[in-house]
Amino acid sequence: EDTITLGIFGGGTVGGGIVEILSNKADYFKQLTGKSIEVKKVCVRDASKPRDFTLPEGCSIVTSYDDILNDDSIDVAVEVMGGTTDAKDVVVGALTNGKSVVTANKALIAKDLPEIETLLSTLESGTQFRYEAAVCGGIPIIRSMQSDFVGDNIQLMCGIINGCTNFMLTAMDRDKKSYDEALSEASALGYAEADPTLDVGGFDARSKLKILMRLAYGMNVEEDEISCRGITELTKMDFEYAKMLGGTIKLLGVAEKNDAGDVSAYVAPCYVTNEDALSSVNGATNAIEVLSDNLVSSIYIGQGAGRYPTANSCINDIVALAKGDQNLLPFNPTSETKFVNNYESVFY
Ligand code: NDP
Ligand code: HSE
Repeated sequence: EDTITLGIFGGGTVGGGIVEILSNKADYFKQLTGKSIEVKKVCVRDASKPRDFTLPEGCSIVTSYDDILNDDSIDVAVEVMGGTTDAKDVVVGALTNGKSVVTANKALIAKDLPEIETLLSTLESGTQFRYEAAVCGGIPIIRSMQSDFVGDNIQLMCGIINGCTNFMLTAMDRDKKSYDEALSEASALGYAEADPTLDVGGFDARSKLKILMRLAYGMNVEEDEISCRGITELTKMDFEYAKMLGGTIKLLGVAEKNDAGDVSAYVAPCYVTNEDALSSVNGATNAIEVLSDNLVSSIYIGQGAGRYPTANSCINDIVALAKGDQNLLPFNPTSETKFVNNYESVFY
């Protein structure tokens, strides 16, 4: 067959970007993959809402999940509507109906990846689950974790893994914006989650950290075992003190191995000195530093949120499916690495 057909759940920030990039690069993708990539349906909550993207010819807006799930002509379901309840039904329904899935939904993956992996193991090998956009938007960190580190041993992952809060901290520190101003700008730019508590409470970063820990260490730690503080309690005074000490404050996600090989992790606002590379990572940019035995020190940096960076990662997954690439595995899927919460007493 020379066509691969998509049904997209979600026509918002990310969904709109996916449709646009697919339309703009349709000829190139056909040349690259040998297939036309066609969006047949976009499922949204409110069909009457104006959209900021143009629907491709032959594509319709629908509001019932079944319009995509039960459409046998649709090969791939792209889930970019968010949440963990309906999104899970959609993802499980699509996989069960033989459709590969591409998603940007870190909350769902952090919560249900083991269950999804179990389901995948019962399905035909061609049915794939891809989620490059779920961690750090445009940075290809999932792929890197699944390939570059396959012969390595990761000691530490430390980074800025939420774009909304990094945008806010930059706006509060550098541009002297108030917390509320910074949050509304981040929301207007499409960086915040539908429920921004996930961003400012550190929970979105924690979901991403959990996914990275699964990929790096093969472990399935419960999210609420990872100590987590967000940025809601930060005041101007904290930035003043940080400046006096020669640094700034960044919301970091950190997972590290101790000498016994056990892993501990936390998400928290941290003082970062001006000499640290992370101190100059501003706006919605994300950065992850990985310390490992073979590669020693690697830094991945790029746009962590927003329409096009995130859609770009979804497009990479879609094009990989069209090309017939194999799905990659976590590099250490059977690890017995133990999780220890060293930070419980620090986070009250
Ligand atoms: P938006 O809120 O911009 O868009 C969500 C879309 O999904 C909307 O079109 C909405 O419909 C639709 N939708 C939501 N719930 C339902 C439902 N129950 N039934 C049918 N349609 C529904 O979200 P984003 O595009 O920003 O985010 C989508 C996903 O991508 C989330 O999982 C998010 O975590 C993830 N993500 C987002 C990034 C970003 O920078 N924005 C970066 C990385 C990941 P309607 O328009 O009618 O309301
Ligand atoms: N709200 C998320 C963030 C979107 O700001 O990082 C990208 O995952």
